[in-house]
Amino acid sequence: MADVQTTHTAELDTATLAAARGLLYGVFDDMTDHDWEHALGGVHALAWEQGELVGHASLIQRRLLHRGRALRAGYVEGVGVRADRRRRGYAAAMMDALESVARRAYDLAALGATDEAAHFYAARGWKLWLGPTSALTPTGIHRTEDDDGCIHVLPLDVPLDLSGELTCDWRDGDVW
Ligand SMILES: CC(C)(COP(=O)(O)OP(=O)(O)OC[C@H]1O[C@@H](n2cnc3c(N)ncnc32)[C@H](O)[C@@H]1OP(=O)(O)O)[C@@H](O)C(=O)NCCC(=O)NCCS
Repeated sequence: MADVQTTHTAELDTATLAAARGLLYGVFDDMTDHDWEHALGGVHALAWEQGELVGHASLIQRRLLHRGRALRAGYVEGVGVRADRRRRGYAAAMMDALESVARRAYDLAALGATDEAAHFYAARGWKLWLGPTSALTPTGIHRTEDDDGCIHVLPLDVPLDLSGELTCDWRDGDVW
């Protein structure tokens, strides 16, 4: 049974935050400081093995525009498990925890999946967004073609048209 702790960023000490950041830099070759910043300000799921951090995921709030509404979205960031600790159920346990938070707190959950993890999310009931994606930038709404085909959503109470338009709020770094 994976040992998963769920905690808000505000309750994590500096050493744990540094361990989570270091873990993600080890997992992702293209990790940036913006990516790390995107994972802050919400609920973290931390997987521990004998006192060592082996997995991280977090759920932060964003607004996603869809069918004329600004939906309150739980957006999943920084999902990574140390390479030598994979296939032991850590990511599944972390996602169980964050999906449970999302079900109670948000209109929908969403994430941008790596190719490697797309099957993992699909098997958990996440749906691939089929329609065009965009971002609400300081200069208006702009298409984000490069992100089409990798955004996944977990539909909750609000009806979604997966073939419709989905627009995310603005931020520095990767917008999705
Ligand atoms: C994707 C990742 C987080 C999965 O972590 P994990 O701890 O190995 O996943 P789990 O052990 O919880 O696996 C859960 C289920 O997904 C399956 N699974 C895990 N990785 C998979 C993969 N790459 N492809 C297909 N299925 C996969 C497992 O077989 C398992 O299925 P089961 O419950 O039927 O046995 C991990 O491989 C990783 O860190 N990858 C690199 C970073 C990354 O791509 N992160 C995702 C960002 S969106």
